[in-house]
Amino acid sequence: MSVATAEVPIAEPVKSFVSTTRKMLINGKWVEAASGKTFPTFNPATGDVLANIPDGQKEDIDRAVKAARAAFDKGPWRKITPSERGRLIWKLADLMEPHLEEFAQLESLDNGKPVTVARAADVPLAIDLFRYMAGWATKIEGNTIPISVPYTPGAQYHAYTLREPVGVVGQIIPWNFPLLMAAWKLGPALAAGCTIVLKPAEQTPLSALLLGELMCEAGLPDGVVNIITGYGETAGAALAAHPDVDKVAFTGSTEVGKLILNAAASNLKKVSLELGGKSPSLVLQDADLNAGIPGVASAIFFNHGQCCCAGSRLYVEKGIFDNVISGVVEQAKKIKVGPGMDPATDMGPLVSDEQQQRVLGYLESGVSEGAKAVVGGGRLGDKGYFVEPTVLVNTTPTMKVIQEEIFGPVVCAEPFTDLDEVITQANNSIYGLAAAIWTKDLSKAHRIAAQLQAGTVWINCHNIFDAALPFGGYKQSGWGREMGHDALELYTEVKAVCARL
Ligand code: NAI
Ligand code: MG
Repeated sequence: MSVATAEVPIAEPVKSFVSTTRKMLINGKWVEAASGKTFPTFNPATGDVLANIPDGQKEDIDRAVKAARAAFDKGPWRKITPSERGRLIWKLADLMEPHLEEFAQLESLDNGKPVTVARAADVPLAIDLFRYMAGWATKIEGNTIPISVPYTPGAQYHAYTLREPVGVVGQIIPWNFPLLMAAWKLGPALAAGCTIVLKPAEQTPLSALLLGELMCEAGLPDGVVNIITGYGETAGAALAAHPDVDKVAFTGSTEVGKLILNAAASNLKKVSLELGGKSPSLVLQDADLNAGIPGVASAIFFNHGQCCCAGSRLYVEKGIFDNVISGVVEQAKKIKVGPGMDPATDMGPLVSDEQQQRVLGYLESGVSEGAKAVVGGGRLGDKGYFVEPTVLVNTTPTMKVIQEEIFGPVVCAEPFTDLDEVITQANNSIYGLAAAIWTKDLSKAHRIAAQLQAGTVWINCHNIFDAALPFGGYKQSGWGREMGHDALELYTEVKAVCARL
């Protein structure tokens, strides 16, 4: 690993965005928290305060839900045509494009990720997601259904279904892809005709606030999207429990996912959850290692391992194990770790002091249980929240580092000899978000894909996302699918209408 140093200058609009205390969006107005309190967000490359943000709490959530409720029940949003709804979402995407660099810099400063990655991935993917969902606004359809009703012989019916928006939606998102997660949530909810209260993660609220400004500029009616910044235990919990919220969509830890579920029980609001993962990568003897080695390395090191679908368990067929591991170690050593704002940086700091401590804790636990770091294994530097890209070997199935999500640049590698056994091992997890198979034998790959318990299976690739491709988890990785047309199911109710003719 080498350390990058020279940073790109911060763009003027970004400087002024972070230098003024931000406000949050309720009913089309930018407001302070009712308490007047703010909290700081930090630049994870330095640990310095980046910006001050309203500390929204229950009272603010109440105000925002009231606005979203009124916009849904009485406002213009239900009355405008699907075509107009789609046009507004498309317009938002158009408005984001000239702000691409601003978004990328905010993302880098707030989250720590390389600005080059945010420019190439986070921001364009978010824009594309809005465009994809804009198209769906006019294509949300019901069915006509021929029915027989045996107990009313001779009667005729006209029966059909309507797909209606679920209503007021609470959306709670994490810090690993702040803007993209906002897009994944907002896009389909807007296409379906819902109104929204969005709560960004306390670590990374800035890009969502800039997005809020563009939503106002695009002409979204007041109250359709409200953005409350605040902590999970206060603002997030109040949103999940709110009796006037019809649905809550959450991405984050499995632990908090279970709290959301409990809170939602109060009014049985609909729930969708995108939670943790411990995704296996399977490298078979016949894999193309020129693609496979960088592939499995980037599966874990992309976004510093802070991906719910990171390839954090690496199973390699025994005959090529040493070769693959030394290749992944070489890849790890080549990674330039540094501030996200340095264009030479491949890997930035982890998002927070807390996340750095959590990952270092896992490294200690792994080593104390007998695992060995063949590269990395610790903190990097004494400023900012950097952790070395790490490969652990000598792990066993009962270790915490194998069972729990680390959410850092740490992969556990094990050799295997028997394919059936490794599939069992790959599935031996409370999680089931993603998996990857590396082999030239595509028919074998598809047979393995069918046996893996995962919402996404990648073959000879990893971390490939598209607005049209559904994403979500089996088992404790979640409920429901985001993106693709499946996402619309999260935000619609089906109404059966039956008329006797
Ligand atoms: P978290 O689950 O606490 O935070 C995610 C979001 O939930 C944030 O907006 C937070 O404010 C909110 N939240 C927290 N507590 C809440 C509550 N009681 N009620 C309602 N909302 C609440 O995740 P955290 O603490 O930032 O990271 C912990 C671990 O979670 C990570 O190490 C990683 O393993 C996992 N994680 C998974 C993510 C994913 O993409 N699936 C994203 C972020 C974290
Ligand atoms: Mg937490």
